[in-house]
Amino acid sequence: MGEPLLELRDVTAGYAQDIDVLRDISLRVDAGRITGLIGLNGAGKSTLVKTICGFLAPKSGTVHLRGEDISGVSPHRLIDLGVCCIPQESSLFPYLSVQENLMLPLLGRPGRFGREARGRLDEVYQLFPALRDKRSQAAGSLSGGQQKQLEFAKAWLQQPQLCLVDEPSIGLSPKVSEEVFVWIEKFAQMKMGILLIDHNVRRVVRMSDRVCVLSLGRITAEGAAEEFQGDLHRQVQEWLGIHF
Ligand SMILES: Nc1ncnc2c1ncn2[C@@H]1O[C@H](COP(=O)(O)OP(=O)(O)OP(=O)(O)O)[C@@H](O)[C@H]1O
Ligand SMILES: [Mg+2]
Repeated sequence: MGEPLLELRDVTAGYAQDIDVLRDISLRVDAGRITGLIGLNGAGKSTLVKTICGFLAPKSGTVHLRGEDISGVSPHRLIDLGVCCIPQESSLFPYLSVQENLMLPLLGRPGRFGREARGRLDEVYQLFPALRDKRSQAAGSLSGGQQKQLEFAKAWLQQPQLCLVDEPSIGLSPKVSEEVFVWIEKFAQMKMGILLIDHNVRRVVRMSDRVCVLSLGRITAEGAAEEFQGDLHRQVQEWLGIHF
């Protein structure tokens, strides 16, 4: 294995000074690969994403991007370094138009807002024709599925090297969920590294190269996806500490 795109080394983090939500987390994401992260509600999955994205600084341990220590670097700076997050909650501005939402991360970044970015906007509208048709409408007026399309289109426009995708299928119909997973695979084919979190454990294991199980803020199982196949349901119940 070469140098990881993203590497967490013994990261401990939390919101309050005396309560650790994450404890000694070590994991890696490689370029062009999907690392899946599964765990029960409240295990700390979204907290991990917030820690990588700079919304929360690690209390101890370090986060490395291509070997460079990015612990505590602000979210705004991380966009420049090629890190993009599609959060569990919406990141859209509901009263701004679809196109304004798409362009927002590129503003103030002349290199990224040049001709190339405008070319990618055409590409994005080809990939997501519904967004082109509604580009002048307020993002908040779109359906749930279209808002998710807009989140992915916005990420695509930034051409990140690392994309953190937190519960992308939550609240979506099975058909739209399927589309979401196709987009994620497309991102990985474009050589992005992906950290994928989703409650559809079976799907995460199927799509991922590596899988980590997070339980009460600790990684309790980690390995190649093949090791997580087989009698998945039962195994996952055990990994998550559920015994019947
Ligand atoms: N802003 C916050 N301030 C304080 N505590 C928080 C905050 N956000 C989350 N927590 C707590 O941190 C713990 C982990 O929450 P987190 O959202 O990371 O879990 P999760 O694994 O993403 O859960 P879910 O599957 O429900 O999305 C929970 O106990 C939660 O109550
Ligand atoms: Mg979460």
